[in-house]
Amino acid sequence: MTSVQHISDDELAEIYTFAVQLGKDAGAILMNFARARWSDQGDGEQVITEKDSSVDIVTKADEDVEAFIKSAIEKKYPTHKFLGEESYSKGASRDYLIGAEPTWCVDPLDGTVNYTHLFPMFCVSIGFIVGGQAVIGVIYAPFTAQLFSSCRGRGAWLNETQRLPLIQNQPLPPNAPQGCVLSVEWGKDRKDKADGNLHRKVDSFLTMAAEPAGRCGRGGMVHGVRSLGSATLDLAYVAMGAFDIWWEGGCWEWDVAAGIAIVQEAGGLVTTANPPEDTHDAPIEDVRLGSRLYLAIRPAGPSPATGESARQSQERVVREVWRRVRHLDYSRPGA
Ligand code: IPD
Ligand code: CA
Repeated sequence: MTSVQHISDDELAEIYTFAVQLGKDAGAILMNFARARWSDQGDGEQVITEKDSSVDIVTKADEDVEAFIKSAIEKKYPTHKFLGEESYSKGASRDYLIGAEPTWCVDPLDGTVNYTHLFPMFCVSIGFIVGGQAVIGVIYAPFTAQLFSSCRGRGAWLNETQRLPLIQNQPLPPNAPQGCVLSVEWGKDRKDKADGNLHRKVDSFLTMAAEPAGRCGRGGMVHGVRSLGSATLDLAYVAMGAFDIWWEGGCWEWDVAAGIAIVQEAGGLVTTANPPEDTHDAPIEDVRLGSRLYLAIRPAGPSPATGESARQSQERVVREVWRRVRHLDYSRPGA
């Protein structure tokens, strides 16, 4: 009778409709803020407040859009829990707070640095989580007018009409990571420590990009490396099939909740960024939302070249990535 713990199919469908409209309305507010900077009414000035560092920032747009989303949800679903980036950042705790109860996990503005530079890769990200699983995702990037959405059992969509991925059943390259577009983020941890996360990330980017003979024979020779500055949009483009692989450590549940829902509903695989000791045989665990460590592989079809099922080929790509990347350290309580 229920497809998702405590929520009937009909209720989930209603929540989905509400979430899509909320994403559109919130995105429109974001775009108004952006447009005001080059319109006659605006003076091009904006106030940027630093949180943890000069690359971890917040603007009035982040604050106002979060307040708008929070109040709309509280009005419509007063029993649901709400977790938003800006309210969370103001608290002292960095614990993972999502439990089994229905929870909205929201980033009002993902890609704030992009937004302040008017680089179009910014969006609102709304995830709805039940039983710890992201079951609805809505991402709206107003500058590019791209709305990504999904609801468990109802497919993943671009602008509500185009099913994701754009090309259905496209096999993954037989010699992946060659032939793959890899998406990564530099992130906000900029500590210049020889064995810190920043150095480990760059080391991993190098191995994934280098020629096959390079890096002691581990060079991944990926087709391209992209860094959009929005973890949410990285995942949206994985669901679309435009990115084959997304590897990232350091972002938070509001950056990924909606994107994970959409990638999974489109048929993609999401697991941990950190390679296990035995990259060859270790089980491929489901992603943990609060882990801050993410590896996503795009939706795929069976692979005629290798005889693999879609899932087998995705798992092969996971292991090929794990062979080439470093372990990252983003440990945190409760995740
Ligand atoms: C950030 C972006 C960025 C990622 C950071 C996130 P914000 O979110 O998604 O791509 O590397 O880890 O915190 O601050 O723009 O909402
Ligand atoms: Ca944000």
